[in-house]
Amino acid sequence: MYVCVCKGVTDKALREAIHQGADRMRDLKTCLGVTEQCGICACHVKEILDQTLQERSQTLQQTNQVQGFISRPVCLCGEAA
Ligand code: FES
Repeated sequence: MYVCVCKGVTDKALREAIHQGADRMRDLKTCLGVTEQCGICACHVKEILDQTLQERSQTLQQTNQVQGFISRPVCLCGEAA
């Protein structure tokens, strides 16, 4: 879906940019040109930014939990470590 009609930027393009590290409105404006002309898209861009950052944070937490579980030492002798 087009979020910024003036620049022809879709929600998918915004999410990709955010996943690649654009985590501020300024970054999205610089790399995709959103909000540069009429500015009507600003509130929708911000909504997608916040939502995607929250998803990215949750994914990172889940990844860290899995890595913490995998890296824990395992004792196979049956005695308490
Ligand atoms: S719709 Fe994004 S600048 Fe106009």
